Amino acid sequence: ILDWYRETARDGTAGDGVRFVEPLGAWVVHGHAEVRQVLTDHSVFSSDELRYSARPVPHRDNPLLGGLSAMDPPRHHVLRRLVGRAFTPRAIQALLPSIAGTVRTLLTDVDGEFDVIGRLGHPLPVRTIAALLGVRADRQADFVRWSEAITSFAGSFTEDPARRAAFRTARAELGEYLREVFAEHRARPRGDVIDTLLAAEPDGGRLSEEELVDFCTLLLVNGHESTRTLLVNTVLCLAAHPGALARLRADRALVPGTVEEVLRFLPPVGGTDRFTTGPAGIAGHAIDTGRRVVAMVLSANRDPRVFAEPHEFRPGRTPNEHLSFGHGAHFCLGAHLARHEAAIAVRALLDRFPAPWSVSRIMTGRTPVGIDVLDLALAAP
Ligand code: HEM
Repeated sequence: ILDWYRETARDGTAGDGVRFVEPLGAWVVHGHAEVRQVLTDHSVFSSDELRYSARPVPHRDNPLLGGLSAMDPPRHHVLRRLVGRAFTPRAIQALLPSIAGTVRTLLTDVDGEFDVIGRLGHPLPVRTIAALLGVRADRQADFVRWSEAITSFAGSFTEDPARRAAFRTARAELGEYLREVFAEHRARPRGDVIDTLLAAEPDGGRLSEEELVDFCTLLLVNGHESTRTLLVNTVLCLAAHPGALARLRADRALVPGTVEEVLRFLPPVGGTDRFTTGPAGIAGHAIDTGRRVVAMVLSANRDPRVFAEPHEFRPGRTPNEHLSFGHGAHFCLGAHLARHEAAIAVRALLDRFPAPWSVSRIMTGRTPVGIDVLDLALAAP
């Protein structure tokens, strides 16, 4: 996997740093400055695929297509301001004890060989989002089921009718449950994230019930697989770099800088799409209206103009201006949450597994701009 990222990352300084890739039907942009330009200039590079894509859009019921992440300013700005109130550092801080408790529970009985995805990578992000949304204990199992059906469909390009049907049912059931939760909170506020999302702004601005349901569904889609991949990639990097693991064991203060370098080195979201609203120009290339443009975060994070020895894993690298959480108006709302989840999980793994770590089993599936680790087992020697 480490090699795959290296081979896939292109040098944005080379002649083909911006190029049309026929099989993807898209312009792919690799350099750090160019990727930032695509992510910043919303007037030309839009997030609204349904409106601007010249090609037919599959998966029209994908929650990513209608929600916050598919809007452009100024509409995006209004919604982002309303939901952003629920993601303050203080709100995230309040979740940390529950995340630590979840990690402890998930690692109970773990011994010898350990299935990183099944035991930790998969359940931790779902349970964290459940905690964020205040899902009751008796609905946790339903929430996990909905989450699986929604993310496995929305995060893929499958046209399998059975998975589409399961997705639709899960989305409807989740919506119904969330409406119950909103009604309970309106009757008895608890001072949590849902209360914040339900409250009106002093100027009267408020999310509609439908926007709220869509936003909570989007959290599942955006916050699940990416965080799972970060956890897995962190384990992979540390297993492959025993020196970094030993330093971390000796000094836990190095954990955040290590997670940051994993984010740069193996970004969980390899690239993100925009669609040209009119004729566009980037690094001297002319791009037509309605074209898909892939901002290759994976390559930007290894741009030698920005990162010294970009193909080396250097925990604590300073500065570390990676673009793994995006850039500009759509910058990841869950970035701090994901960082904390990874840091808490790493600390717990350091406690439970003596160095060095060895990866005993690994199975991967590939996507055009990212990599899915389907199976990973970690063994203590
Ligand atoms: C947006 C990455 C975890 C919620 C984004 C974007 C990226 C990203 C690259 C910007 C996409 C674009 O500009 O097109 C990641 C990574 C994560 C992670 C790598 C984990 C390591 C989370 C979590 C949550 C979350 C845990 C919430 C529970 C969101 C939301 C947006 C977003 C709501 C849309 C923001 C907007 O459009 O204004 N994420 N994300 N993400 N992320 Fe994350």
